[in-house]
Amino acid sequence: PVLVVDFGAQYAQLIARRVREANVYSEIVPHSFSVEQMLAKDPVAIILSGGPSSVYAQGAPFVDPALFDAGVPVLGICYGFQAMAKALGGTVAQTGAREYGGTEVEVCSAGVLLADTPEHQTTWMSHGDSVHEAPSGFEVLATSSGSPVAAFEDGDRRLYGVQWHPEVKHSAHGQTVLEHFLYEGAGLAPDWTASNVVADQVAAIRAQVGDARVICGLSGGVDSSVAAALVQKAVGDQLTCVFVDHGLLRAGEAEQVERDFVAATGVRLMVVDARERFLEALAGHSDPETKRKIIGREFIRVFEDAARDVVADAGAHGDEVKFLVQGTLYPDVVESGGGEGAANIKSHHNVGGLPDDLQFSLVEPLRTLFKDEVRAVGLELGVPEEIVWRQPFPGPGLGIRIVGDVTAERLEVLRAADAIAREELSKAGLDREIWQCPVVLLADVRSVGVQGDGRTYGHPIVLRPVSSEDAMTADWTRLPYDVLSVISTRITNEVSEVNRVVLDVTSKPPGTIEWE
Ligand code: XMP
Repeated sequence: PVLVVDFGAQYAQLIARRVREANVYSEIVPHSFSVEQMLAKDPVAIILSGGPSSVYAQGAPFVDPALFDAGVPVLGICYGFQAMAKALGGTVAQTGAREYGGTEVEVCSAGVLLADTPEHQTTWMSHGDSVHEAPSGFEVLATSSGSPVAAFEDGDRRLYGVQWHPEVKHSAHGQTVLEHFLYEGAGLAPDWTASNVVADQVAAIRAQVGDARVICGLSGGVDSSVAAALVQKAVGDQLTCVFVDHGLLRAGEAEQVERDFVAATGVRLMVVDARERFLEALAGHSDPETKRKIIGREFIRVFEDAARDVVADAGAHGDEVKFLVQGTLYPDVVESGGGEGAANIKSHHNVGGLPDDLQFSLVEPLRTLFKDEVRAVGLELGVPEEIVWRQPFPGPGLGIRIVGDVTAERLEVLRAADAIAREELSKAGLDREIWQCPVVLLADVRSVGVQGDGRTYGHPIVLRPVSSEDAMTADWTRLPYDVLSVISTRITNEVSEVNRVVLDVTSKPPGTIEWE
C-alpha cells in the first residue's frame, strides 16, 4: 500500500481517499509507528500528512531520518514537509507569519511534482513555520510570500514535499500534484479499481471462510447490502442473510430487500416479520431514548433467535455456522484505533452485541473501504441503484420520526407522507444533493385547518432536508419553492390526517438531524 502517516489533523483520511481516487491503494498509520513497523507493511510509497504542531513544539511528532534512506518514495505535506526538511538538514523557521487559506505560489522549477501546472497557482495553506532552506540535494520547486521554499524534490532519492494541502479541493492542482507523486515519482500504476477490489475480496473471503456457513444481518442500507453481496459472490449458498422487518421501515423498503436485492444477488434470505412484536414493545412510550433502547433491545433478541434458527438448520445438515458478516467501513477502523491487530468491533454496529453462546468470527469485507468505494463495489456487483445510493436512514427507523407514541395508524400516516416527499424529491433530481430528508410526524400536536368543506383538526408533518458531509454538522437544504409546494399540496391532499406541512430551517448545531 501507499502509507499515509497520520500526524493528527484529520487530513490523513482525506489524503488516503484522494490516493484511492487516483486508483492506488492506501492505508493510514499513526505517526507513532517506527520506521520498522512502516516498512513491515511493504509500502510502495509514503505520504506524511499535515498536523497541528510546530516542528519546534515540545513533543512534536518526529520523523526518523532513517525513513528517507529506505528507498521508498516519500511525499511530505505541510507539517510532514517541514518535518522532512528538518530531518534532512534543511532550515525551518518560526517567523510567526502565518499563511492560511487560499495562497498563491509561484513555480520556479516544475520538476516531477509540478509538471504541467501553471506558473502561478492557488493552493490551500495552513501553517505558521516555514521552510527557509531546502536540505542539500533538493531542488526548490515553488515559493510563496510566506514560504521561501513552498515545494521541493530530490528526484534521485525520490523525496518530495509541498507546504500546501494538495488533498484539499481548494488547491487548484492538488490532485494533479498527488498523481505526479504517485505515478511518476513513485512509479505506481492506477490499478486499484472496483473490479479488482471485488476479485481480491472474493478471494480473501473464500480463504477465510472455507466451506463453513456464514450469517449476515441485512438492514437494507448500503453497507450491509454490499457486504452481503460480496460474501454471496464468494461463497454462494453458504451464506444466509437475516432481515428483521421491525415495521418501522419506509414504504417499499422491505420489498426492496426481499425482492430486488434477492433478485440481483441471489442471496438466501430469511425474513423475520417482527412488526407486531415491536409495536407491542413500543406501546405507550414517547420518550426518544426509551424508544431507541426498546428498538435496539428487541432487534437484538429477534436477530439472536433467527441466528439460532440458522445455526440449528445448518447443524441439521451437518454444517457449522462459524462466521458473521459485518459491514464495518475503513473510517470506523481508523477511528477505533487504526485497525492494527485484533478486529475492533464497534458496539453500535448493525447487529449489536451477540450473546456468548453464539460464537462467530467476523467477516468484514468492507474494512478497507471508504463509503464511495463501497458504492462503486456495490454497482460492480449489480446491487440495485436504489440501495447503493440510499441516503442514511437511522436503525430505529420511523420509530424516532413520530414525536409521541408509536402506533400502527401513526406509522401508516408517516409512511404515506414520507413516500410522497421522497417521490417528489427524486422526481426533481435532488437525491444526491440532499444528505437525507427526515419526514417527521408531530403526533401529539394538532392544529386547525380547513380541508374540503369543513374544519379539520389534524397533525403537522415536518420536512427536514439537510446537506452534510458526515452528519456531524449539517445545514438545512434550500429546496426549490415549487418542489416544496408540490410536496405540501400532495401530502395534505392525499394523507387525510395531515393538514399542515412545515419546513425545518435549523442547522446542526443547534438542531440534530433527526427530531428525536
Ligand atoms: P442526529 O439526529 O444525531 O443524526 O443529527 C446524525 C445521523 O445519525 C442518524 N441517526 C441514527 N442512526 N441509530 C442509527 O443507526 C440511531 O439511533 C440514530 N439517530 C440518528 C441520523 O439519521 C443522521 O444520519
